[in-house]
Formats: sequence, structure tokens, C-alpha cells
Amino acid sequence: MDTQQDYSGPQRVFSGMQPTGALHLGNYLGALTKFVDLQNTHECLFCIVDLHAVTVFQDPKQLANQTREIAAAYLAAGVDPAKAIIYPQSQVAAHTELAWFFNCVARVGWLSRMTQFKDKAGKNSERVSVGLYAYPVLQAADILAFKATHVPVGEDQKQHLELSRDIAQKFNNDFGVPGFFPLPEPLIQGPGARIMSLRDGTKKMSKSDPSDNSRINLTDDVETIAKKFRKARTDAGMVPEMIDELAGRPEVKNLVGIYAALSGLKDQQVLDQFAGQGFGVFKPALADLAVEKLRPISTRLNEYLANPDEVDKVLASGAERAAKISTPIMAEVRKVMGFWGT
Ligand code: TYM
Repeated sequence: MDTQQDYSGPQRVFSGMQPTGALHLGNYLGALTKFVDLQNTHECLFCIVDLHAVTVFQDPKQLANQTREIAAAYLAAGVDPAKAIIYPQSQVAAHTELAWFFNCVARVGWLSRMTQFKDKAGKNSERVSVGLYAYPVLQAADILAFKATHVPVGEDQKQHLELSRDIAQKFNNDFGVPGFFPLPEPLIQGPGARIMSLRDGTKKMSKSDPSDNSRINLTDDVETIAKKFRKARTDAGMVPEMIDELAGRPEVKNLVGIYAALSGLKDQQVLDQFAGQGFGVFKPALADLAVEKLRPISTRLNEYLANPDEVDKVLASGAERAAKISTPIMAEVRKVMGFWGT
């Protein structure tokens, strides 16, 4: 990928999660575990994207707490505020300002092709907020307000990242500033990039699924995790010997993938361990593994939730550090566009 086409600035990682409910195993394996690894090798910003959340109505009495909850989950999973910047999007004005500039660069046709908008809006597309439509433009602004070069996300964000690259490239071309913005590279690889619903292996695990049994939440207790895996849909067969035998068995493939992602094994190694066994054996083993990995996180998560002041300190200092990076970048952007006073 020609990410750094003409771009010679520093490498920087940016990612975000919406404060719209408890995080689930997909968020954890698709993104959060990568955050924890990347903070050791890169300058990282991990945002709580509350401006994205309000593209659908959020109760003002809940929003700040929802934001703290995601920050607490970052911290509980091992994101270290001494290494990475953790902050709420709405505290750094660069996001909204650059989003407006990018609204004037991105084309309506580009946004109309966004499959996530089509899925979310459904038949109601005339009645959803303008913000929901422009959502991916704000996402591009998030990343590029820091000239971030790498973006760890799950596979569902691939199209949004392609749009970010298109916007960066068009800005660089339109204003004759090659290499001004990097073309941010998605970091999607890895076994957890697409975790599916426990009730339907063709649908991604999602906060918005009405069935709580479709997902494992980071806040679930031991019994709930065990029950959800026990109830997870499978078929009447056994765990197969070879990966190609998982074709046409999306639920089984998903459970094997979750086991692999949690254990650090390859899918084939998981099959080697369980081939020929029924799900009465495999599912409890998976539940034990999930509990072993998630319990320390949910314990720490509850500790942070009981100490909101500590979380608030992290968020406030993160916002200051983030603004220090974005402020000079935004001054450059205004100058490139030729605004008065620059
Ligand atoms: P959000 O809040 O829906 O999800 C947060 C992260 O979790 C990943 N994810 C999954 N990964 C694997 N399997 C799943 N079933 C699964 N479900 C969710 C998502 O891919 C994401 O990485 N638009 C983004 C938030 C955002 C953002 C950004 C991300 C706003 N600005 C800038 C990166 C850079 C979103 O709604 O994520």
C-alpha cells in the first residue's frame, strides 16, 4: 500500500470507539488488543468518539458516563495513559473544524456508496440525521487532524478508511500540496478482525443487535459468559480436522476464530486440539478461555468505574495533549486553504 506517498512526517496511530454502550468481544479482539500492542511501538491517540455517537440521539444525562465507560475499558484492557493519549473527541475542536473543511472536499457520491450508512439508515434514509450521512467525513477528520498514518480497526471500518484516503488524496491534489496529509493505512489484519454474532454467524457481533446473547460484553460476569457460549448457535456436526471444512459452517468458523484470537493460536492449531470433539466439549473450553482472558479486564473496569475522578483526569490531560498536536496542524490547514488571518 503506497501509504506514505510523498508524506515524510512521523508515523502516528489514531483510533476511536463510540460511547454507545458496553464494549463487546468484537471491539476487544478487533481493535482494543491492537491498541495495547501499538502503544509500545508508536505514538498513539485513542479517542472516545462522542461526536460520532450523537449522530443518533443520545440521552444528555448518560453521554458523559458512557464516555467514561469507554475510557475505563481502554484503561482496563491495558492502554497506558503514560504511553498513549486517551481523550474525548468533543474536547478537541480540530475534529469538527476539519470535518467541515472535508465536507467541502468529499463528494456526495462517495458518501452515498458507504454501506454502513445504508445499513444503519435502512429504508429511513430521508429521516436520519445529516450527521449520520457525513459520519465518515468526521472519521477522516479525526485521523487527519493528527496526520495519523496508521489506524487499527476491525474489518467493518475498511470502507471508511478508504474514504479517508480518498479525502486526503483529493485535498493534497486540489490544493497542490503533495504529501501534506498522509494516506492513512488501516491495520485490520489479525484473527479478531471480524468477530460474528453468536446467534448468526453471517452477521457481525454488534452493540446494536437486540439480542444480548449475540455478544459477549466486557462487563459480563462468569456465568453469563458461560451461558452465552453454551447457547451459541452451532450445528449437529463435530469440530472438523481441516480449515476448509469450516466452509458453509459460519457459526463454527466464528467460534474457532474466537478461540484462536483469545489463545494466540492459529485456527488450524485450534482444530488440531479439538478435531472430532462435539460442541459439548468445545464450547465449555471456549467459555473457560474467555473467562480467563476477560475476567481481569472486567475486574479492572469495575475498579475504574468506581473511581470516575481518576478516569476524568486521564481524559482531561489526554485532551490537552491531543490539542497540542492538532493545533499547529490546523493552522497549516487553514493556511493551505488560504483563509484570512493565516
Ligand atoms: P465502533 O465504535 O463501532 O467500533 C470500535 C472498534 O471495534 C471494531 N469492531 C469489531 N471488530 C471485530 N469484530 C466485530 N464484530 C467488531 N465490531 C466492532 C471496529 O471496527 C472499531 O475498530 N467509526 C468507528 C469509530 C471511529 C474511528 C475513527 C475509528 C470514529 N473515528 C477514526 C478509527 C479512526 C466506529 O463506529 O467504531
